[in-house]
Amino acid sequence: MAEPRTVVVTGASRGLGLVSAAHLYRRGWRVIAAMRSVDAGLSRLRELTGASPGDNRLVGVALDLTEAASVERAAKEILEVAGAPDALVHNAGISAAGMVEETPIALWERMFATNLFGPVALTKALLPAMRAAGRGRVVLVSSEAGVRGMPATAPYSAVKGAVERWGESMAGEVAPFGIGVTVLVAGTYETDIITDAGTTDSRDLDGPYARLHRTIDRRGRLLVGRAARPPERFVGGLAAALDDTGAYIRRPVGPDARMLLLLNRIAPTRLMHQMIRLLLGIPRRGSLWPAPEGSQPNI
Ligand SMILES: NC(=O)c1ccc[n+]([C@@H]2O[C@H](COP(=O)([O-])OP(=O)(O)OC[C@H]3O[C@@H](n4cnc5c(N)ncnc54)[C@H](OP(=O)(O)O)[C@@H]3O)[C@@H](O)[C@H]2O)c1
Repeated sequence: MAEPRTVVVTGASRGLGLVSAAHLYRRGWRVIAAMRSVDAGLSRLRELTGASPGDNRLVGVALDLTEAASVERAAKEILEVAGAPDALVHNAGISAAGMVEETPIALWERMFATNLFGPVALTKALLPAMRAAGRGRVVLVSSEAGVRGMPATAPYSAVKGAVERWGESMAGEVAPFGIGVTVLVAGTYETDIITDAGTTDSRDLDGPYARLHRTIDRRGRLLVGRAARPPERFVGGLAAALDDTGAYIRRPVGPDARMLLLLNRIAPTRLMHQMIRLLLGIPRRGSLWPAPEGSQPNI
């Protein structure tokens, strides 16, 4: 019997990573579930899949993307357990709410450490083995916020945009060695990251941006509520990405992501800006000037 293909999924403890890891296991993949809380994550995965504790098609690896030593240890363990993975899915991520003025630099740093620097370090550590094997696919989970810079979540938009450019650059480098890159632009799914509890909130609801927060919050919740689909609807898009053969593929997952990519391609930048402004109920340029007195940035 042929050896199962191996996929590493980061952030497999919950949300999209959890259901994706379970789905890929059911489809016959050998899944290396990389996560911060291995025991809790593995028990959820075993519950979802029926895999037994001795099943070597489901392996947990400890990974905290914000810690260089943890990334290094995880890469070593992955290589020891499975050799060069056939696929590496960078799914783990965090989000943020708040205006640029309100968001502490420490949160920008954590955002980039989690969503970009950690994934880059893990990829660097695994690429030599993947190159030597002459095959493999790196999948980067992006977001609609990475396609357009969305107000009130600049660190998240910035890091997802950076993730996309990283993937695009790397694709040109690794394709000659047989390795492909897919960027998945995920639509909206019902996971913790779209809830208040699952997001780091730096908003100052009484500060100079209070008026914007009120409308963005109201409209945003309405839009997210309408668009959000069960996380199980995401897994087909990821499974398809693992079968991609092109050197660089960027694909939407979900109708809202598909629509945004289309609009972003055909509509001029100014029009896209106005559309997002109207959608989120943001007042016209200059209408909140002069700024209320005593408004201080939150550093
Ligand atoms: N849900 C959506 O609507 C949506 C839309 C667009 C893009 N996405 C993207 O999809 C991916 C998965 O998000 P989700 O919706 O599943 O969110 P989620 O339910 O909040 O899950 C986030 C995952 O990332 C892990 N994680 C966070 N910080 C980490 C760190 N320092 N080291 C290792 N793992 C860490 C979490 O692990 P712990 O359990 O240890 O915290 C968790 O497994 C993210 O990249 C997100 O940006 C989601």
